[in-house]
Amino acid sequence: MTAQSGSYRFDSLEEQVQIQEFERLYRQASSLLDIERQIWPKVGIHSGQKVLDVGCGTGAVTQAIAKQTAPTTVVGVDISQKLLSQSEPSSQNVAWKQGSVYSLPFEDNSFDVVYARLLLQHLNEPLTALANIFRVLKPNGIACIVDVDKDWSSLYPEPDSSIALDRAIIEKQLSQGGDPWVGRKLGSYLKSSGFSGVETSIKLVDSDQLGLASFFGMLSLGGSYQSENKQFQSLRQAIEPDIRALINNPNTWAGFALFVATGRKPTSL
Ligand SMILES: C[S@@+](CC[C@H](N)C(=O)[O-])C[C@H]1O[C@@H](n2cnc3c(N)ncnc32)[C@H](O)[C@@H]1O
Repeated sequence: MTAQSGSYRFDSLEEQVQIQEFERLYRQASSLLDIERQIWPKVGIHSGQKVLDVGCGTGAVTQAIAKQTAPTTVVGVDISQKLLSQSEPSSQNVAWKQGSVYSLPFEDNSFDVVYARLLLQHLNEPLTALANIFRVLKPNGIACIVDVDKDWSSLYPEPDSSIALDRAIIEKQLSQGGDPWVGRKLGSYLKSSGFSGVETSIKLVDSDQLGLASFFGMLSLGGSYQSENKQFQSLRQAIEPDIRALINNPNTWAGFALFVATGRKPTSL
């Protein structure tokens, strides 16, 4: 398996696309923070907990988690050194480390919580990833896996350009070993990886909560695939005027579900 395998390959994007994608990831993480913070008390993210955010991307969520756990350090790990190098810590209790979820650079039993947000949908081997997450968790530690599921999203009115782009994104993600329907599978994956007390819940995210401009502003629209596939550039060009029209249409509604699956590493194995 190469360092950039799976269906999210930031380092292989053209430089200009990297800048746009970094900004979009940051916007997306920031837009959903209020909704996501509701999850954290349940997961046990509070002062003194040692948390690993794996596949941390821009680090926007890592930094927000660090505010909750201060003074304990939160570690953000990502396979992309380029992403990490842009993630300047704004608080002292954040550390960044380059590494893969398939070979996490930490001792066994190191963390109270491992958080993985929008990572599993991009992995060829989600169960190998969860075995590594299990390994670095302390006994009784909690894995919290957050992701989406293609069938749990909707848009009205839905222009043809959106249907065409969606189809292309699904095809591309599948061809690179990702899984657009991973949300519904997270609980099952945690159970088969040895976690106990597994629960799956959903948080609904919609354009009424966020506003149409913020909602559409955080969507990827195939941006993370466009460097390798010129088809995405023409599909994006086709959808852009339609998105502007949707944002200006007071009758537009769009939403999706954020799946949150949690499980504990048993104290005796
Ligand atoms: C869609 S982004 C999500 C980033 C961040 N968690 C967020 O929600 O904003 C997926 C992230 O997973 C990282 N990633 C992909 N494969 C990985 C792997 N094998 N190990 C660690 N990180 C990986 C990517 O570099 C990227 O930052």
